[in-house]
Amino acid sequence: MRIDIVSIFPEMFEAVKCCGSVRRAIECGVLDLRLWDPRDSTNDNYRRVDDRPYGGGPGMVMLAKPLTKTLQRLRKDGAQGRVIHLTPQGARLDQGRIRDLAALSGLVLLTGRYEGIDERLIEQEVDEEISIGDYVLAGGELPAMVLVEGLVRYLPGVLGNDASVMAESFSEGLLDWPHYTRPEQFSGRAVPSVLLGGNHEAIRRWRLQQALGRTWERRPDLMERLVLNEEQHELLASYQREQIDEEILS
Ligand code: ADE
Repeated sequence: MRIDIVSIFPEMFEAVKCCGSVRRAIECGVLDLRLWDPRDSTNDNYRRVDDRPYGGGPGMVMLAKPLTKTLQRLRKDGAQGRVIHLTPQGARLDQGRIRDLAALSGLVLLTGRYEGIDERLIEQEVDEEISIGDYVLAGGELPAMVLVEGLVRYLPGVLGNDASVMAESFSEGLLDWPHYTRPEQFSGRAVPSVLLGGNHEAIRRWRLQQALGRTWERRPDLMERLVLNEEQHELLASYQREQIDEEILS
């Protein structure tokens, strides 16, 4: 997958390029990540990429021209695919959207700073707007990194175990179950005994029960969207009974 990112702070992306799954994806050749600084597409001595907003008010607005030129340059370099603008005005990112975008061969991520980008550039060039949540950051760089890190997990060979993408939180609309590693006792707390017994079916049912229980407790919005099968109903009901018993005892 090729991802071209337009940002006035290309150095910020060293943070994801240098380590972890993004680095692995680049090294094994499944990700080609290229950065484009709009300042390199300016002609003035100040390398200006922003100006005051028409109509007045605080802050600055990113100029359309350096961004158009940057997009022309990256397309000339072979970049293809949807142009995604990271902005709090976009549709909220979720696992399903990440999975669908990961199936594409290329993406262009456009990140803004200041008060935003001249609307005419957005109308002309942008295919989709994405927000990573209902809060405002100083720019689209961190949201772009969030998206890239979410995407690379779907690229072949990036995760040690491909099955773990599937098994994990949200892939099935559920939160993840709790995880444990050595030692068996830590600070007076034991690893749940089912995980030590080697009974794979019992472990599968316990994990599913925990995932259902956590989702029910923590994310009623996700729970509402789920259609549970018979086994899931039964496991959730037993989780709920256990919670009630614990409450009575405490
Ligand atoms: N730019 C600033 N805040 C943002 C957010 N929450 N999502 C995407 N882009 C942004």
